[in-house]
Amino acid sequence: MPATTRALPASQDLEEIIISETMIKRRVRKLGQEITAAYGEEEVTVVAIINGALLFTADLLREIRCPIRLDCIRVSSYRNETRAAGKPEIVHSLTIDIANRHVLLIDDILDTGKTLSVVVNLIKKLKPASVKTCVLLDKKGRREVEYAADFVGFDIPDQFVVGYGLDFAERYRNLPCIGVLKPHLQNPPEWA
Ligand code: IMP
Ligand code: MG
Repeated sequence: MPATTRALPASQDLEEIIISETMIKRRVRKLGQEITAAYGEEEVTVVAIINGALLFTADLLREIRCPIRLDCIRVSSYRNETRAAGKPEIVHSLTIDIANRHVLLIDDILDTGKTLSVVVNLIKKLKPASVKTCVLLDKKGRREVEYAADFVGFDIPDQFVVGYGLDFAERYRNLPCIGVLKPHLQNPPEWA
């Protein structure tokens, strides 16, 4: 088999692929068109939540035709609910000024809604002209804090998924598709 078509070793750890590479590419292109139409000629300040949004942001930005400024923000999310405060904390904040700018916040997945609400509250304090959010995946059934994203790639059921930026303990981010890990690999379920 030619090296270019060989499966990634990590893909053997998937029980099921729920979103293929082709589906991702098609949807990311459409999302880029939707975002371009929403902002027109306006400059957009993109804020990506890393590490999860890295791959999605890199592909999406190339489908957006508006002028773009880019910054990243790093948030610690404590997946283990037994830990005292399950509130996400900003580990590394913005480095560019967003006052009076149109901010588009990008994350890989909207789950309980805690991460995006914390980041949006921080951004709003910095007096942007507007704030919109875009997520690749939305697990609407898991919401603990009410939150609706402006642009959503795919609605997915309540399953723990990896690939295309999403990790399990920092692994699997490089899978080109999105899938569910085999059950024995999800143990212990420490969602990093
Ligand atoms: P929220 O604060 O509960 O909405 O969670 C958002 C963060 O949790 C995301 O940025 C991901 O890092 C992580 N997360 C939630 N669900 C999953 C999943 O199914 N796979 C991988 N990471 C997830
Ligand atoms: Mg993560």
